[in-house]
Amino acid sequence: MNFRTLLVFCSHNLLNPVQLTTYYFYLLLTTYNLLLTKLGLAIKQESRRFAAFIMEKTTLSRRVNSLAESQTIGMSKLSRELSSQGIDVINLSLGEPDFITPEHIRIAAKKAIDEGYTHYPPIAGYAELRKAISVKFKRENNLDYEPSQVIVSTGAKQSIANVVLSLVDPGDEVIIPMPYWVSYIEIVKLAEGETVSINTTIESDFKMTPAQLEAAITPKTKMLIFSSPCNPTGTVYTRDELKALADVLAKHPRVFVMSDEIYEHINFLDKHESIAQFDNIKDRVIIVNGVSKGYAMTGWRIGYIGAPKYIADACDKMQGQFTSAASSIAQKAAEVALGADIGPTLEMQKAFRRRRDLVLNLMKDIPGWIINEPKGAFYVFPDVHSYFGKKDGDTVIENATDLCMYLLHKGHVSLVTGDAFGDPNCVRFSYATSDDKLVEAIRRIKEALAKLR
Ligand SMILES: Cc1ncc(COP(=O)(O)O)c(C=O)c1O
Repeated sequence: MNFRTLLVFCSHNLLNPVQLTTYYFYLLLTTYNLLLTKLGLAIKQESRRFAAFIMEKTTLSRRVNSLAESQTIGMSKLSRELSSQGIDVINLSLGEPDFITPEHIRIAAKKAIDEGYTHYPPIAGYAELRKAISVKFKRENNLDYEPSQVIVSTGAKQSIANVVLSLVDPGDEVIIPMPYWVSYIEIVKLAEGETVSINTTIESDFKMTPAQLEAAITPKTKMLIFSSPCNPTGTVYTRDELKALADVLAKHPRVFVMSDEIYEHINFLDKHESIAQFDNIKDRVIIVNGVSKGYAMTGWRIGYIGAPKYIADACDKMQGQFTSAASSIAQKAAEVALGADIGPTLEMQKAFRRRRDLVLNLMKDIPGWIINEPKGAFYVFPDVHSYFGKKDGDTVIENATDLCMYLLHKGHVSLVTGDAFGDPNCVRFSYATSDDKLVEAIRRIKEALAKLR
């Protein structure tokens, strides 16, 4: 109410000047009070937030403070936030098959519940599942791992953590070719190991060479970690390439290899090859695998290792103090997945291959994107650095993270910055979604990029 309306109000309500002044004074005071309370509240809130920040930084362990949050999960969270505001976002930032778990596996899980598989399983996994994994190693990879050399965990991520925490001491060096899967670095940090990166480039199909590996090994090297097929590049090493790497490692008997083969079944070359097949290093190889990707079972959380017995035993001990065994029901489902006909997996593989071809075909006329043909997994990892320095109005693209944000806000397509994988020139595009969405996503990307000058 301003002064004039107040006067009109007073004359209508017959207030005298004293009443009027008192009323006006009262109004002023209430406004002032309100402002003070608001200011007070804001100051209180800010100081609370500051105190919480200080508390977080000084109370939480150095260990957890040193960890980075997963940027793939972060990007997915952002795109979900936009979706919840009613924006139609195509989320290509997550690494999981869009298919649901095949029916025979779902039935096995329901049966397991009805049959009473509801108690704690042995830490290392049910004997039947460890046997099924041992048989799988022989059948699909021609590798000999006794069930006692197999440890089942809550996802391959836990398998990796178990191995790193069991082998790496503070100060040990762990060689990781770049680009790498996000969690390797953070898990090595947890173990207080030192990461030694090997830079690979799009020109060499993102592959490390034997010479690079040799040059990276020092007396402090404990382990090499790599994935083939690789997340994020889709790179797949051939048998000859793996043999050449194994020959280098054979000269360094104290160096272990963690071979992450979680994308084994999403491989567009003839046959999956494992570095564990070479006898000169087999006793130092730990294979990590699981059912998440090949059987569309990401939510079931079943991963496993095949390893020398003493390393398997160490992982059993480690897991026993952390999480105990993986879910009883998921284990029974995984047993059926690994033991049954692999038909549904091959169908999914075919779909991923078709989508890869579709995406590569649509991407080839995006100006300035340099694209490498992935041979496995379900990602394309284009080099987008030619867009750095370009602008759309006030928005300037300085790096791959800016480009991802721009594509999210302008094109409503969510990708992941290559920074998350150690390559600041690239972005990761996951094609684990329907053909229609892929076509629309690339249309939107092209439209948004065309506005950058
Ligand atoms: C290369 C790689 N290794 C391991 C994992 C972890 O798999 P899981 O879901 O079984 O924990 C992932 C998941 O994205 C991955 O991409």
